[in-house]
Amino acid sequence: MTEYKIALVGFGGVNRGLAQLIAERNPAWRKELGFSLKIVGVTDLFLGSIMDRDGLDAAQLARLPSVKGAFAELAGGSAEAFNETIIKQSGADIVAEATFTNPVDGEPATTFCRWALEAGKHVVTTNKGPIALHAEELKALAGRNGVAFEYEGSVMSGTPVIRMARETLPGASIIGFEGILNGTSNYVLTRMEEGLSFTDAVGKAQELGYAEADPTADVEGHDVRLKVVILANELLGAKLRTSDVHCSGITQVSAADIESARQRGARWKLIGSASRAADGAVSASVEARLLEGSHPLAGISGATNAVSFDTELLGKVTVSGPGAGRIETAFALLSDIVAIHTSVSKR
Ligand code: HSE
Repeated sequence: MTEYKIALVGFGGVNRGLAQLIAERNPAWRKELGFSLKIVGVTDLFLGSIMDRDGLDAAQLARLPSVKGAFAELAGGSAEAFNETIIKQSGADIVAEATFTNPVDGEPATTFCRWALEAGKHVVTTNKGPIALHAEELKALAGRNGVAFEYEGSVMSGTPVIRMARETLPGASIIGFEGILNGTSNYVLTRMEEGLSFTDAVGKAQELGYAEADPTADVEGHDVRLKVVILANELLGAKLRTSDVHCSGITQVSAADIESARQRGARWKLIGSASRAADGAVSASVEARLLEGSHPLAGISGATNAVSFDTELLGKVTVSGPGAGRIETAFALLSDIVAIHTSVSKR
């Protein structure tokens, strides 16, 4: 039976969710998936780090209090984040990178991915920064080192979108997509339809844990722009940079705009889209759009995300589901590990 040793880099909600799943589900995974996971190292800039090549107690890790330097309280742990040591020397086969998204240069996550790939470790990540800004370089690095680099969770957390399109739509010719790719802004627009003010709706989204600490990235479209770049580059063969994508958010949509749309069965949505022209050029944008009730994305409410692919052979193909959440995003890491296991097993 295969047992993968895994190092967790960043121990906020996502990797903590993965530790919880490992604690609860390893026996079921052995039967259902043909492998189990053993955590051999964890590092986090706030909590510190811990390493044990024989395996750490996943349940104990999942319960760790979120206080500065908390790993120092565990036997063998430290208040210092020994990122490079944990990534390179914990004996991990797989590194799960789930630190914060830096939309400017993708750091320090990109460096963590580089270290892992150069050391011959598979990398799974949910981080939008390294993928939107450095995917090509990191994929090439993985190729040169004979390891996998997987990032399904970077767009819609655990809801399959990249792999779904790559594995099931080849030949259908995807020529574009439209997506609701930010849970916070869709939640805010939905609550405003119910009469809540913009400010109160953003506050609620923060309370519910959908919004970023600074929700500007959510409501001004910057979070969606990263996801549009990832989807366009992955699925339309584009080579877009974030600066190529015109971006505006939902702050210009007034309560009156939302009410008059509602009265005629239409809805305002923050839409990230891209399309490929006949000459192969791909253009993309992020903007609030007024959708008629018949549009495939008009019925998507609350924090739910959705992408509608425009294909030559099938017309529109739409997938919807959660786009954020602790366990939902931890599942994305699991789905990446399943993909690695499948390809390793075929070798
Ligand atoms: N703040 C993001 C959202 C989280 O609201 O969708 C997932 O990227």
